[in-house]
Amino acid sequence: MLEKNILITGGAGFIGSHVVRKFVLNYPQYKIINLDKLTYAGNLENLKDVEQKDNYQFIKGDIEDTELLHNLFQDNSINGVIHLAAESHVDRSIADPLSFIQTNVMGTVNLLNAAVHHWHSATDCLFFHISTDEVYGSISAPHLFTESTPYDPKSPYSASKASSDHFVRTYMNTYKLPAIISNCSNNYGPCQFPEKLIPLCIHNINNQKPLPIYGNGENIRDWLYVEDHVAAIDVLFHQGRVGETYNIGGDNQWKNIDLVRLLCRIMDLKLGRSNSENLIEFVKDRPGHDLRYAIDARKIQNELGWRPSLDLEEGLKKTVDWYLENENWLEHVTSGQYQNYYQEQYFNR
Ligand code: NAD
Ligand code: TYD
Repeated sequence: MLEKNILITGGAGFIGSHVVRKFVLNYPQYKIINLDKLTYAGNLENLKDVEQKDNYQFIKGDIEDTELLHNLFQDNSINGVIHLAAESHVDRSIADPLSFIQTNVMGTVNLLNAAVHHWHSATDCLFFHISTDEVYGSISAPHLFTESTPYDPKSPYSASKASSDHFVRTYMNTYKLPAIISNCSNNYGPCQFPEKLIPLCIHNINNQKPLPIYGNGENIRDWLYVEDHVAAIDVLFHQGRVGETYNIGGDNQWKNIDLVRLLCRIMDLKLGRSNSENLIEFVKDRPGHDLRYAIDARKIQNELGWRPSLDLEEGLKKTVDWYLENENWLEHVTSGQYQNYYQEQYFNR
């Protein structure tokens, strides 16, 4: 690809904003178009530092808008897509599955159609679909998810992502769409909406509010610092083998309760406190709660040399620093227009 005109969807969200920043700053020769509907999870504050860059453009819009997509592809000669736009929170998917089908399945297929339509004779294009390890369901120790683990999604969120992955593969097979899929473990870091475990607990520890642990806290997640995920996306976009799937994970498996206790210790040190663990409250379990996710990332490591740069403790310290230095960001996304989307009135709390 000589000239790259890249459409990044969901670029105002948590992971998407880090991807946009990296591509805008590291590749001034590329044109980066960020298409985002700005749902409760999208926030242009995340991109203040790059919004004036010459190679960056933001478009507010929905990936379900067929006409908008066709115009975007046509007017900008789009030859790369990094598709992150999604509804992303499992609890919300349990409360409202249809909106997940709408964006994650219908929206993805709409985007695939646009790519196939505009790329029919092109050879230098790439559709990079960003997905999750949750498509594999839950796995018992000591086993790990590999790229050939059968799909077994257990929540409406993971079913919608699994469906979108299947559509990407069928478009590769049927329409010869040049595509790559990555399935990544749980991300954390700056700019994550405080409905997810880590930013929710940071916010609540800071405000000395209860820390809700679903069930007995024994569920295990494999955590990856967001910048390490973005580094993997960068490597895969440029050097990944077209047609392949890559797992991305940090080899950082933690029980929720241990992670929250570590977070309490880190924040107590920073805030000069000693008792944040007392805020922990065991609450009603999430229905169908997956017990354990654990990624085998040897394929991307061996083929492309990618490695996570931070372990969980290092990444959590950086994340806590960011949230404490950006209390305005948290204040903004938990008040005003966002208030209805914030955790307190939400699902099983
Ligand atoms: P997020 O919820 O923070 O952001 C999603 C973004 O998509 C928001 O900016 C939102 O406004 C936008 N969006 C939603 N619906 C849209 C639509 N119809 N049209 C256009 N834009 C729309 O999500 P995230 O955590 O940054 O996740 C990004 C992607 O990475 C998702 O596809 C998710 O499945 C995947 N993923 C996330 C994780 C994780 O731990 N967060 C792990 C693996 C994979
Ligand atoms: P979450 O951050 O929602 O990510 P995912 O469900 O995609 O893994 O949740 C991470 C883990 O933390 C998961 O096992 C559910 C649990 N959890 C809690 O115990 N309490 C909470 O308030 C939240 C949001 C999650």
